[in-house]
Amino acid sequence: MAEKPIILGIETSCDETAVAIIQDDESGVPKILSNIISSQFDIHKEFGGVVPELAARSHVEKIDLIAKKAIDESGVNLDKVSAIAATAGPGLIVCLTVGLNFGKAMASSLGLPFIGVNHLEGHALSPKLNSKLNYPYLLLLISGGHTQFLSVQGLGKYKRLGTTIDDAVGEAFDKTAKLLGIEFPGGPQIEQYAKRGDSNKYKLPKPIINRGGCNLSFAGLKTAVLRISQTIKNKQEKYDLAASFQKTVEEILYKKSIQAIKEFKKININNKNNTFVVAGGVAANKKIREVLSNLCKREGFKSIFPPINLCGDNAAMIAMVGLEKFKLKKFNTLDFPANPRWSLDENAAFLKGAGVKL
Ligand code: KG4
Ligand code: ZN
Repeated sequence: MAEKPIILGIETSCDETAVAIIQDDESGVPKILSNIISSQFDIHKEFGGVVPELAARSHVEKIDLIAKKAIDESGVNLDKVSAIAATAGPGLIVCLTVGLNFGKAMASSLGLPFIGVNHLEGHALSPKLNSKLNYPYLLLLISGGHTQFLSVQGLGKYKRLGTTIDDAVGEAFDKTAKLLGIEFPGGPQIEQYAKRGDSNKYKLPKPIINRGGCNLSFAGLKTAVLRISQTIKNKQEKYDLAASFQKTVEEILYKKSIQAIKEFKKININNKNNTFVVAGGVAANKKIREVLSNLCKREGFKSIFPPINLCGDNAAMIAMVGLEKFKLKKFNTLDFPANPRWSLDENAAFLKGAGVKL
């Protein structure tokens, strides 16, 4: 019997240098043979956010070492690899080009097909690394740069149902953390602080909660957190603000998910087994997982979350998209460009900034 395809995935769109090797499996869920992630927290923490040039330089310094580690750990001989997949966008252009060029060079020197991958499609397909998942499904993508509801109709077929009109939810977590004096990226820490606080202490705004369909907004929430953070006198009040913030985000996502479920059902009227996937870095938040899985029970949807370690940026999810494209022989030529603004739904309207009508 022919050996199952093996894909090497590369991810350098932001501040993680990552390489992974996965192999297709008859169970329908591929095997992760290696999944190496090198984060750059230490490089960026003093700046309170990612500095693109420093990130790119670090990718250049590390990518070959990380690739070697991934190959060694997988136990796979390079001549057994079927294709190379690398993130081509969206992300920071100076970062994307490092992994993309490295991937193209590998594909070219090994005589393998090359596959350019949309980073967001990586998040969208990340649950396939541990669960069987059929199209179509409803996706809530919540990360540091994106907050979107999408109806995933098939590989490469996305219909955006809603998006943030200003900040991404991960960005709101990170900014709140910064205001509370927590090091970047503070999202996971806010979740911990919230456990010790009184979530009813501060009343925070939920912008466009009753209008704009399933579009979302977090900028007003951030401004309110800024205002309150200036009045904070002790650690307990920091916990209370974190708890109030966490609860407000849960309520926004809950309410907007109800709307998204309605819109998904309208598009996929004959779909039998409705599934709601929540992916991206913020999907690691246990309370958000709990709230949304309870909502799914109520709405008759099956909820699927990637394992916590695959919520954030990683290359296994890039290899996952690579594997699906490989099976359909969807390859790219070596002049495939990096696209820092590569959208999943090219037909969706641009909905950011002043003057947006909802
Ligand atoms: O998907 P990701 O790793 O990178 C992007 O593509 O943006 O998401 C990173 C974001 C950061 O904003 C981080 O603070 C947030 O995910 N995050 C969390 C948690 N873990 C990571 N936010 C809230 N709760 C968490 N447990
Ligand atoms: Zn990401």
